[in-house]
Amino acid sequence: LPISPFIANLPKVELHVHIEGTLTPSLRWELAHRNNIKLPYTTFSDLKASYAITLNHRPELHGRQPGIPTFLEAYFAGCEVLQTETDFYDLAMAYLTRCAEMKVRYTEPFFDIQAHTRRGVPAPAVLNGYLRAQRDAIKLGVHSRWIFCFLRDEPVQSGLDAYAQARPWAAGNGKGLFHAVGLASNAYERPPMLFEEGFRLARADGLHVTMHCDFGQKDTHEHMGEAIFQVCGGLGAERIDHGLDAEDEEVLWRGLVDRGIGLTLCPHAYHRRTETGVLFPKIRRLWERGVKMCFNSDDPTLMHDVWVDGNMQKVYSFCGFGKSEMVQFVRNAVDMCWAEEDIKRAIY
Ligand code: ADE
Ligand code: ZN
Repeated sequence: LPISPFIANLPKVELHVHIEGTLTPSLRWELAHRNNIKLPYTTFSDLKASYAITLNHRPELHGRQPGIPTFLEAYFAGCEVLQTETDFYDLAMAYLTRCAEMKVRYTEPFFDIQAHTRRGVPAPAVLNGYLRAQRDAIKLGVHSRWIFCFLRDEPVQSGLDAYAQARPWAAGNGKGLFHAVGLASNAYERPPMLFEEGFRLARADGLHVTMHCDFGQKDTHEHMGEAIFQVCGGLGAERIDHGLDAEDEEVLWRGLVDRGIGLTLCPHAYHRRTETGVLFPKIRRLWERGVKMCFNSDDPTLMHDVWVDGNMQKVYSFCGFGKSEMVQFVRNAVDMCWAEEDIKRAIY
């Protein structure tokens, strides 16, 4: 789908992107050589071809196809080339440079500390790499506030340990890299309330709280109910990442509207596995009911290289939104974001 000049030129805000999901095949190839890591591909074009992933991370629904990794397996396999602070800096700068090219003025990338510490990478290498990129990207006109993610398919205690390690890089008394915590990875039988202790600790540190409620998960409506009404001592999450399944049940979408919880939607992630005529009317119905939303990329290099501009183009083309609505979605993202007021004013 070609990106129209209107979408290309629109100043943008991105609130749902996993930094590890922006690792391009070419940077992965370069880092593999830099770090003497053997990839299971002999040529660069074999590596590139492996990015044509069609499966999502729900093996319980799709069965496993021998030789084809699930989505999250591919995502974590990509992480293996990331070893040193410089690698994490290069990953982050590549994304933030691309942001500048796409006119993304402000972004809140997720990062998965546990994906790296469990491979033996020291947490400070990850966090200092991102911190340096956060600072350097300001010169490109791209501001960022990052989001620490708990990996929900790891033991709860492992996430709490990672949070304790990352805390000196938080906003408030820390170095200011991240202003929020999130919840990502495989949601299968891992409801949000399992992580209540982590959310409580983060809130006590003055951080914001968001969480994934992926489209079409097992128990998706129960998970959404927890995220809207139960977590954070009953206050609910401040945002929900994805959350499209709320459209199915009035108590859920009314809960989003009444509590002012915005959704960070990633249209292409759903379009990979949902008919156009089913998906985009569903997004539009949520919007018509007054649910606040913005449009984002999720894991662009693992999702056919569709970045935030391509995701905005999809709803512009397929939801029947006009230019003023598209501008409003960017304003929604500014409202939903966790930048300081002066940055918000500058990007509004
Ligand atoms: N972590 C990175 N990408 C993810 C996705 N698409 N869903 C859940 N967790 C993720
Ligand atoms: Zn995501």
